[in-house]
Amino acid sequence: MVGLGLISAAHGHGYELEKDLVEVVAVCDSADEMAAARAKVIGCKGYTDYDELLGDHEIDAVDLMVPHHLHFPMAKAALEAGKHVIVEKPLANSSVEAEQLVALAKAKGLVISVAENTRFVAAYLALQKVLEDGRLGEIRLIRTFIAGSEVVRLSDPTLWKGSRIGSGGGTIMDAGAHSFYLLYWLFGEIKKVRAVQYKMVPESEVEDHAIVSGTLDGGAIFSTEFTFTAEIPWTERLEVYGSTGSVIIDQLADPPAVWYRDEWDAKGTPLEGVGSDVFGWKLHSIADGVRDFARAVVEHRAPQVDPELGIRALRVIERAYESVARDSKELEV
Ligand SMILES: NC(=O)c1ccc[n+]([C@@H]2O[C@H](COP(=O)([O-])OP(=O)(O)OC[C@H]3O[C@@H](n4cnc5c(N)ncnc54)[C@H](O)[C@@H]3O)[C@@H](O)[C@H]2O)c1
Repeated sequence: MVGLGLISAAHGHGYELEKDLVEVVAVCDSADEMAAARAKVIGCKGYTDYDELLGDHEIDAVDLMVPHHLHFPMAKAALEAGKHVIVEKPLANSSVEAEQLVALAKAKGLVISVAENTRFVAAYLALQKVLEDGRLGEIRLIRTFIAGSEVVRLSDPTLWKGSRIGSGGGTIMDAGAHSFYLLYWLFGEIKKVRAVQYKMVPESEVEDHAIVSGTLDGGAIFSTEFTFTAEIPWTERLEVYGSTGSVIIDQLADPPAVWYRDEWDAKGTPLEGVGSDVFGWKLHSIADGVRDFARAVVEHRAPQVDPELGIRALRVIERAYESVARDSKELEV
């Protein structure tokens, strides 16, 4: 486990749940005290030097949870050292870098995956079944909303979050990676995008609110909105409107996922097996993602998160920033 910040607890939880299969043999953080403290808790080796960790032959795979600009160089170095890699989203800071990583992993016969927890969120998995059953008919409109607060981290110029170099972008890069992955996974090709962005936190160099909309291959319209200034538990909302029904998912609602059959179905039907879990839904989905990666390595199979979709999500992100720079012009992806 490399990078022992905020998200590392969820990853650690995943490995703990798979402890019969996988062992965390080392942790690494450039902050000395973090590496030592975590190594003590887990009972494993603690590194502050990543190159040293890569020379450790006991290590088969690395899990990178570092600032965005380090995803590419650290993943590349790990693959070159013969280690399987899971990297937090986004896969890299550009689609070209992401393509290089996937090609390198393929050439070396190694697993590469992106820790895209969207793929393991219970409500989205339930929606996948509804879509497969054809219950919603032809999809006309999809809306996503990702909200939470990063105001404290964005306000601190010593942290990577609000730095253009460290983060590679704000909400579109950071939260957009989730929504664009979701659109590709459940609904297919993204054809066109246009974007608008805003910045409220003065100390930050990157946007903290954005709206990216466009069209999918089949003609459906999508609208995605991201904010880092909302003082609520981290949440996601997904609305899917089809010709024969709709599904509304809202992680702050109880029940969080409801299927509406038509315009008279005022009550709707909760999607089966999706309970309210305001603080746990993200943690569990992240843990399930690392568990799947660990199993993929052990079972010599592809992980459920196809890194190809991580590359495509980055292409949409790049087009969205280009659209912002060109007065929200609609662009082909
Ligand atoms: N899936 C999600 O919902 C989700 C949520 C939060 C963060 N993330 C992602 O997780 C990643 C990390 O985010 P975070 O919020 O945990 O960041 P963080 O700043 O809390 O942690 C990053 C850690 O990396 C360490 N680090 C920096 N440079 C290093 C180096 N060269 N070698 C070793 N360690 C180094 C830092 O000391 C820090 O402890 C990002 O890619 C972010 O987008 C995903």
